[in-house]
Amino acid sequence: MKAIEQLRETWRRDQVFDIVQPAPAFDMNIDTKHGPILYVEDVSVSFDGFKALNNLNLYIDDGELRCIIGPNGAGKTTMMDVITGKTRPDTGSVWFGQRVNLLRCAEHEIARGGIGRKFQKPTIFEALTVWENLELACASDKRVWYILNRSLSGEQRTRLEEVLVQIGLVEERHRDAGVLSHGQKQWLEIGMLLVQNPRVLLVDEPVAGMTGEEVEHTAALLTSLAGKHSVIVVEHDMAFVRSIARKVTVLHQGSVLAEGSMDQVQNDPRVIEVYLGE
Ligand SMILES: Nc1ncnc2c1ncn2[C@@H]1O[C@H](COP(=O)(O)OP(=O)(O)OP(=O)(O)O)[C@@H](O)[C@H]1O
Ligand SMILES: [Mg+2]
Repeated sequence: MKAIEQLRETWRRDQVFDIVQPAPAFDMNIDTKHGPILYVEDVSVSFDGFKALNNLNLYIDDGELRCIIGPNGAGKTTMMDVITGKTRPDTGSVWFGQRVNLLRCAEHEIARGGIGRKFQKPTIFEALTVWENLELACASDKRVWYILNRSLSGEQRTRLEEVLVQIGLVEERHRDAGVLSHGQKQWLEIGMLLVQNPRVLLVDEPVAGMTGEEVEHTAALLTSLAGKHSVIVVEHDMAFVRSIARKVTVLHQGSVLAEGSMDQVQNDPRVIEVYLGE
């Protein structure tokens, strides 16, 4: 009973929890035949005259793992807000594959349509078990009683088992999410996104507050997702970025300052100047 009460309460106050939203208006048939799955072109966002994004151009290939770094205030979170429909740009275009214009989609449509976002504060249900949290995330009918009383299809059960292994919480499956460690809660939230098979996964500062061991586990988890999903990771922890980096984009004052391998960007004089000047 306690679980249900907590669920109701969270439900009421939490508009961010996108799994409770209806299905998307567009289908999942995202056209990536030209390579990129995400096109962010000439995007600008102003807050009271201040340009948080300034003609930003970013292309993410299907299945790639991209790290985005940059000093505080560079526009990294704002970029994620634009991709997920939370913030509307003043100018520019944002496409999901060749055919889906994300600027015409509502935030919940984007979330349900294959772009999952992990927020820093996990939106898991602490009084439900790990397994129940995953069950809740994969349901298409979001009514609480329906979800907790129905039985999963064989296919769904297989997917949930698969995700449990991926996030390393097999042993914890029957434990309440509330008793998990900080790192485990973060992985559970990633798992809740994964059961919906997102094409793109956005993670903002995933290792903040984690122990060294948890950071390593997170690195392994995110790198294992690349290929099947496109993963965009924003992070300040440079050792972590180095451990997972393929292509790295450096944002500064709302634009791309440099892009390339970790070594390339770290040796770029413009990048060095920006970080030294912090
Ligand atoms: N809703 C808002 N209203 C006014 N200014 C905002 C708003 N959101 C962001 N900003 C400003 O836009 C700039 C970019 O912010 P953003 O959060 O995208 O940076 P960031 O790169 O994520 O920084 P950090 O590394 O500190 O998380 C900052 O100067 C911030 O103060
Ligand atoms: Mg940020």
